[in-house]
Amino acid sequence: MNNRIVIFSAILLAACGNNPSSRTVTDTAGARTVTAVSLLPDPDNFLDTADGQATGLYFLHNGNLTAAITNYGARLVSLIVPDKNGTPTDVVLGYDSIGKYLHRPDTYFGAIVGRYGNRIGHARFKLNGKEYTLYKNNGPNTLHGGKKGFDAVVWNARKLDTTTLRLTYISKDGEEGYPGNLQVTVTYLLDSNGLRINYEATTDKPTVLNLTNHSYFNLNGQGTGTIGNHTLQLNANYYTPVDSTLIPTGKIESVTGTPFDFTKPTAIGARINDSANRQIKFGHGYDHNFVLNTVKLGPPEGYEEHGPAAIATGDLSGIVMSVYTDQPGIQFYSGNFLNGTNPLKGGKTDGYRTAFCLETQHFPNSPNEPSFPSTVLKPGEKYSTWTYFKFSTK
Ligand code: GAL
Repeated sequence: MNNRIVIFSAILLAACGNNPSSRTVTDTAGARTVTAVSLLPDPDNFLDTADGQATGLYFLHNGNLTAAITNYGARLVSLIVPDKNGTPTDVVLGYDSIGKYLHRPDTYFGAIVGRYGNRIGHARFKLNGKEYTLYKNNGPNTLHGGKKGFDAVVWNARKLDTTTLRLTYISKDGEEGYPGNLQVTVTYLLDSNGLRINYEATTDKPTVLNLTNHSYFNLNGQGTGTIGNHTLQLNANYYTPVDSTLIPTGKIESVTGTPFDFTKPTAIGARINDSANRQIKFGHGYDHNFVLNTVKLGPPEGYEEHGPAAIATGDLSGIVMSVYTDQPGIQFYSGNFLNGTNPLKGGKTDGYRTAFCLETQHFPNSPNEPSFPSTVLKPGEKYSTWTYFKFSTK
């Protein structure tokens, strides 16, 4: 649990080859990690309270991989993987203190978003004949859970072992306008190849639910500039075009012959400024839901069989990230709203299109779009989904 006693002992152990120096460091759970620690934020900087609850920073470690997670918003703060030369590289954008997260929660850096990831049109939906009104925090629409979504609440964190962090949150009936007391559990699990996120929830009234993780990736390392030369492949022959407020029109259209065709590895920047394409204009680049070809639910251990939903490669680092999921869609967002105002870890700054998100989820506005896969969760049912980010190099 939230052990407030944190010992941050800066014992420099070794600087081996290109690797940043290691030192022993103790996270909020009191567990020791000794790898690439010079890239990790100081856990002391995450000790605070929000809404009267303690915040902290937790480290997971397995082989050459290290993750740092805060229980504020259940956010992935750091994800350190080796590049093609073996150099530890932090591939997600994040802040180095809890204060910066509290100041700018709206970037959603690394957050678990809910109850509903992405937008619900006109901030309302009907369920069993009753209309529910939500908070308009994105023009006429609601985005990522509303005024104070799961990204901005303090979760209860429990480190199960050095590779596993379990976070729980109880969202009360009526919170942000959504019905039902919802019990949510998110588990981050680091294996020697990647990071798995398991999502589970139950409700006591029918509700809608669409959870995802909102990490911003730069596979060359956070704060190293454009992602335009990263290549991306999406296992999606179709996508859901949007209106000018980024709500899907309800149509499912082929990507063939459009800038949305990522069925073969393609540079993210190759067609991102195709201003003749209305969808690119509406999204200010890519900000669209792709319909995954492998819309097939399966147990977490079966992820390899489904094949990756997405494969992204850092052009400079050679880091390859393969994303596996049981979700029907993936929101590919090319960092179009990043603008250099966010001070990142290690004194770096963000910038326009210097990171991308691959948010595995149900389609935006599904509660108002009966033809989309359902996001309704009923009492007695168990919401259980998973995503796995696997890393290799080439
Ligand atoms: C994405 C969304 C974008 C933007 C971003 C956060 O999921 O699709 O439009 O809101 O989150 O800045």
